[in-house]
Amino acid sequence: MKPEKKPMIVTCGLPYANGMAHLGHMRTYVPADIYVRSQRKQGREVVFICGSDTHGTPIVVNAEKEGVTPKELIAVYHDHFLKIFSRMGVHFDAFGTTDDPENHNRTTDIVQKLIDGGHVYSKNIDIAYCPHCDRFLPDRYVEGACPHCSKIARGDECDQGCGKPLYPGELIDPRCAVCKNPAEYRNQEHRFFKLSEFDGFLKRYLETLRGTDNAVNYAKGWVTQGLEDWCITRNMDWGVLFPGAEGLVVYVWVDAPIGYIAFTEEWAEKTGSSWEKFWKAPADENGQDSEIVHFIGGDIVYHHCIFWPAMLKGAGYSLPTDIVASGMVKIDDKKFSKSRGYVVWVGEDYLDHGFHPDLLRYYLAGYTSHTKDLNFGWEMLQEKVNSELVAVLGNLFYRSLLFASKNFGEIPKGTVEPEIENRIKATTTEAVDALLEYEFKKYTDIVMELASFSNTYFQSHEPWALIKTDKEKCGGVVYNCLQLVKALAVLFEPVAPGKMQEAWEQLGLSSQVASVLYEEALVPLVPGSGLGKPEILFTKLEDDKIAEMAEIAKKRVYLAMKEAGLIPDGEKLPDENGDKKKSDKKASDKKMSDKKTSAPIEGSAPIEGSAPKEDSGKSAPDSARAAGEKSMENEEPKAELLPEISIDDFFRAQIKVGKILSAETIEKSTKLYKIMVDVGEDAPRQIVSGIRAYYEAEDLIGKTVCVIVNLKPAKLCGVQSQGMILAADDGSGKVSLLEPDQELGPGSKIC
Ligand code: MSP
Ligand code: ZN
Repeated sequence: MKPEKKPMIVTCGLPYANGMAHLGHMRTYVPADIYVRSQRKQGREVVFICGSDTHGTPIVVNAEKEGVTPKELIAVYHDHFLKIFSRMGVHFDAFGTTDDPENHNRTTDIVQKLIDGGHVYSKNIDIAYCPHCDRFLPDRYVEGACPHCSKIARGDECDQGCGKPLYPGELIDPRCAVCKNPAEYRNQEHRFFKLSEFDGFLKRYLETLRGTDNAVNYAKGWVTQGLEDWCITRNMDWGVLFPGAEGLVVYVWVDAPIGYIAFTEEWAEKTGSSWEKFWKAPADENGQDSEIVHFIGGDIVYHHCIFWPAMLKGAGYSLPTDIVASGMVKIDDKKFSKSRGYVVWVGEDYLDHGFHPDLLRYYLAGYTSHTKDLNFGWEMLQEKVNSELVAVLGNLFYRSLLFASKNFGEIPKGTVEPEIENRIKATTTEAVDALLEYEFKKYTDIVMELASFSNTYFQSHEPWALIKTDKEKCGGVVYNCLQLVKALAVLFEPVAPGKMQEAWEQLGLSSQVASVLYEEALVPLVPGSGLGKPEILFTKLEDDKIAEMAEIAKKRVYLAMKEAGLIPDGEKLPDENGDKKKSDKKASDKKMSDKKTSAPIEGSAPIEGSAPKEDSGKSAPDSARAAGEKSMENEEPKAELLPEISIDDFFRAQIKVGKILSAETIEKSTKLYKIMVDVGEDAPRQIVSGIRAYYEAEDLIGKTVCVIVNLKPAKLCGVQSQGMILAADDGSGKVSLLEPDQELGPGSKIC
């Protein structure tokens, strides 16, 4: 038999400490918080862990851009997230940073164990280097064409195209993301984790891993496709020093998840508990003696289901038992995009406008199933709040409590009817079962069904008539209504902790509803005990408030498009009027307003003063903006967002017509062709091009194409490339070579 309730660690994907909290983040934290509260209501010991992700190139790039040190930058956002979590009712037992000494030590320990276990080897690889900036360009410092799909990508991932992870040296035509100059590849020794060796382990492990299908099944697919070893060192001085490798730090995706362990250690130090019972849990025939549940967004499944368990296994630590991945958040049916203005900041757009956190919590939990994309719109929030929280739940609470208070002044005499008792029992079981499957929407639906039932009960028993004819019988009805209110407060507390505590107090109960077990829902109210003052719990979201919010959202999109040059000068927002200037200013002030409330950074340029143009969230240069260390932003193609250039700038690129003479595959690559092109010179040019996915080699021969001939030569997969063949991409994966529409001789100039 499985021991019933093993101690459990619940973690959330760590927020990057270089941007403000937005609704996308909340899709990880709110459901996780609901889950933790629900587990505690079942009597389980749970430690809820999170912290700031502080390493990696985005932090350094942003700090450089802001003129502050990485430490200063992360302090601001660490503080910001702590405040937002507290306001949202998300309460972690520990919230550290991956730059804490605990994490440096734990990471060093784990990496050393991997080295000692023979899971790490050295290899010389090509690393992009910027001669202009005189430095190596890890990850986000470099951009270029994806070797798989040719889209603009950054060093470690094709974040705007095919989404594949990229390895150092793979980008075609690499450029420095900071100065935009062409980068070159330099050969350097790096450390690799033998991920490929773990495929047998991962196959078996993934069979036992619980969680959502979008995590577990994807991961199974990746293992079947084969795993590549993983470069785990970077040329930077910000991060955890790699043991025994001078000048290199550990790749951020190694030390970030180790934060889960380090923060558990911090919690253990603080509370005098043991972290080992979670992370060094002995395994018996029932499996590991602790449960480790990771809540993440669908964008970081690979890291959690593949890299992380392999690392833990290699270093001898406990393994995750559940990986719960949410769908992504969309704004007004558009992909989340800060540069496009499709973003809702939790602080300034929501809480600061006086919206109660519980409404958003309810929306995030109850709008759609956890693994689906979740669309947010102000009207939809209004609809859900008004027709469910106000009309059903709030209505029941207020009418029951008000009626009881007015007519009895205390909990009236009564007993819980068997039907009511059964209803509460069945609802609790169903609701708890739903959460076992991470069905948050099902949970809220089931609870709301009990509220509807309760309203019907109230309505059909007509206590307002009964009070005139049979006060005692009426008391019995009201007693049952109040018991239902009590049960609903218990059941709904994980979703709406603040509001349910208010309801609890209105019922005259003095404990904390967050601390009671589910069983409490059935503990009968004590007749004769006092009631609190009945107060309306949920009020309607009014049309004009929602219209105001929708207007703010619309303006943000408009301003973002304007900044991106997508709206011709003079064209106005449809209802733009005289106070446009004011709203413009307000919108741009807003970008940094949360940070303004944080402690100023002393001895450095104010962060506000150097607010980047486009992306206040991640506040990185646009070139390197997109996502942190993974494809989460799904930013639209950057091409449209590039700054204006002059005609002279354009003519710095020398483009000529060429004829393809031959095309052959490159052994080390599945995406590249080595193509010989006649561009009207003495000898044909050799060009490496990432169009293998779109053209058969034999179809290329004889094609007339356009070639940039003065591009700095580069080596791709060990093959020299002397130029670039131009192609167009419609964004949906369709790629077409650019061909002149008449036959032109090789060497013709593009003018
Ligand atoms: N730092 C990494 C996670 C490291 S975990 C060892 C990261 N940070 S993040 O700030 O980009 O995201 C924090 C959490 O929010 C992650 O769980 C991520 O999946 C989630 N989301 C961030 N944006 C999101 C959406 N737009 N939609 C849904 N969830 C996404 O990832
Ligand atoms: Zn790609």
